[in-house]
Amino acid sequence: MDPIYLDYNATTPVRPEVVRAMTACLSGPPGNPSSQHRFGREARAARERARSQVARAAGCRPSEVLFTSGGTEADNLAIRGVLEASPERRHVITASTEHEAILHTLGALSPTRAETTILPVDEDGRIRPSDLESALRPDTALVTLMGANNETGVLADLATLGAICRQRQVLFHVDAVQMFGKVPFSFSGLPLDLASISSHKIGGPKGVGALLVRDGVSLPAQQTGGGQERGIRPGTENLPGIVGFGEAAELAAGEVASEAPRLAALRDRLEQGILQAFPAAQVNGDRGNRLPNTCNVSFPGLDGESLLIALDLEGVAVSTGAACQAGAAEPSHVLMGMGRSAAQAGSSLRFSLGTPSRDSDIVGVLEILPRILSRLSATGSAPSGQGHL
Ligand SMILES: Cc1ncc(COP(=O)(O)O)c(C=O)c1O
Repeated sequence: MDPIYLDYNATTPVRPEVVRAMTACLSGPPGNPSSQHRFGREARAARERARSQVARAAGCRPSEVLFTSGGTEADNLAIRGVLEASPERRHVITASTEHEAILHTLGALSPTRAETTILPVDEDGRIRPSDLESALRPDTALVTLMGANNETGVLADLATLGAICRQRQVLFHVDAVQMFGKVPFSFSGLPLDLASISSHKIGGPKGVGALLVRDGVSLPAQQTGGGQERGIRPGTENLPGIVGFGEAAELAAGEVASEAPRLAALRDRLEQGILQAFPAAQVNGDRGNRLPNTCNVSFPGLDGESLLIALDLEGVAVSTGAACQAGAAEPSHVLMGMGRSAAQAGSSLRFSLGTPSRDSDIVGVLEILPRILSRLSATGSAPSGQGHL
């Protein structure tokens, strides 16, 4: 059987149209977008075309797209930039289930630069708007929350949360890395000030992304160099990456209306099959309000890492949580944040689908997984309580 890839939230294959656009850029003339001659002008035109493609896909103005090396850099730039721009305010609000790009960035800032309030989530992974309201303070500089969780797919109510921030005149940054291109997203249609997006989650190359910065929001550069990206993100641009990102963004946005229901139907079939094969399984996250491509399941009494390895040996790629946590000894902070015990969190798998996913992938997993589940149940692969080792 062909290998089955169900780890699209970790990364996606680069789409053929993107490869073609990038290849043309890589093998074309050697333009630096900052150069004055015709080669430079052509490179600038390619960069600006990609900026317009990303802007259209994200529902914002081209002037609001700032290219970065990916979601992690965009998150860093948003947090560090806003704090530098408002030295009199150092309070930041985030949530316990955020990505490490947010939590570790806030954790790395000294108490003189940032004081962080971490909001809890309910057992379905949702933030209560009343918790945000009561956490806001006169010295709050920034609220940073994710649009969609990478492990569970749970979607935040950005309209409500953003409206609260607007009312209190606090900047609102959204890590939209997992939601952009998977569900409709409009930066200007929501009360947002900053949003991070990334190319490799939507069929584009790795190492490129963008921070969307609402016109009028001031953001000091967090590195020094030339004047690229309005001086906020200096350094010669990754032009092939940017061109590929533009192409991927346009494709994803054009297909989201048909892809979202198609993937939700495949995901639901997978979930039903899992629950039939293992009735004690528990789906993690708000089932009515999730990314259409994501399914996170706990298998009580079993060890997620052993399941992942057994599936891998049979050619099925899934995840026990965030890609960067794989191999870590800690159970998922996302599931723990939702009130799961270490054992429950350590018994979980994430299945995430993408544009190349087909019926045959689901049929294949549902053939393989039940066998593995009964074998591991019989041999007693109990979780150690340590989570992934
Ligand atoms: C929610 C979220 N934010 C940020 C990132 C980091 O993005 P990048 O890999 O482009 O640095 C990821 C990647 O897994 C993510 O899932």
